[in-house]
Amino acid sequence: MKALVLIGGFGTRLRPLTHTVPKQLIPVAGKPMLYHVLDLLPADVEEVVLATGYKAEVIADYVRHHPLRWPVRTVSEAEPLGTGGGMKNAGGGMSDPFFLLNSDVIAAADLRAIVARHLEHGGVGTMTLAEVEDTRPYGVAALAPDDRITAFVEKPEPEAAPSHWINAGLGVWSRSVLDAIPPGRVVSWEREVVPGLLDGGVYGFRLTRYWEDAGTPERLLRAQRLLFDDGRGGKAPLPRGALGTGPVATAPGATAEGASFGKYVTLGPGAIVEAGAHVENSIVMEGTRIERDAFVGGSILGPRARVRPSHRIVGQTVGEAGEV
Ligand code: GTP
Repeated sequence: MKALVLIGGFGTRLRPLTHTVPKQLIPVAGKPMLYHVLDLLPADVEEVVLATGYKAEVIADYVRHHPLRWPVRTVSEAEPLGTGGGMKNAGGGMSDPFFLLNSDVIAAADLRAIVARHLEHGGVGTMTLAEVEDTRPYGVAALAPDDRITAFVEKPEPEAAPSHWINAGLGVWSRSVLDAIPPGRVVSWEREVVPGLLDGGVYGFRLTRYWEDAGTPERLLRAQRLLFDDGRGGKAPLPRGALGTGPVATAPGATAEGASFGKYVTLGPGAIVEAGAHVENSIVMEGTRIERDAFVGGSILGPRARVRPSHRIVGQTVGEAGEV
């Protein structure tokens, strides 16, 4: 099977960081979000096709320098075509069926089991579903007793939501669904295409362990906690000469002599945390400097940012080279 990965969005909810860093390359528990998503794919996948748009070159360059275990091809859009348009643009030569993955969801999902379910029911699609309290930002499924999806409503008002089971952004689809997407224009897969596919048989596959849409700062940090707690952040011992608890996923060249750490931190290459500073529940990207006695909690610091001595930041997203 091949995998089609949607990776062309602007990531507006993570600005200012995403002005320079595409969302999918933000490191979470030690490596870019995209790489955690792809970790779910079986080893024998034939090809991964990245449907890129915004910052396509940055993504293609990163993937070239950090190879994946599968052959990878990037197909970029000159102008964003939306999720359906992106699928159509990049979907030539897809396998039947194929994996369709959003690149910004962190989940425990057994994709082999999803393929097995897809082949068993014989319909056109199998959509993973996650149960959430607030369904407003998502596509919501109405389900028959056998988990066949009988209606699909994108971003409904709470009173119009048919259930609490939402599109988790990981699925298996028959190649024929690509024929249902009109070519050459912006198309929303969720709004314009999926509802018309339901008659052909689309089934839900409920995720029961964890799932997070890592598209906002709070949820990104929650996704990081989930990954560490699930052992997907590696051993993550404290950096040399540092105190505290961790886990801290420390990239080569990062230093933190005399600094202290709480739980759940990613330190990018060449990041410097000076003596007396404390970091917890945060992402600190490459070349960022947290100066002496500063406190950083629940924050995401872009590349080459700076936190001044004794400064305290909580719940902030700082863009590339930002100073706080
Ligand atoms: P926000 O702007 O913060 O909502 O983030 P986003 O742009 O990533 O949008 P959203 O989270 O709704 O996107 C869901 C998935 O589809 C993500 O993996 C996006 O990268 C991807 N995506 C969204 N729009 C496009 C597009 O126009 N083209 C392609 N190829 N992918 C897209």
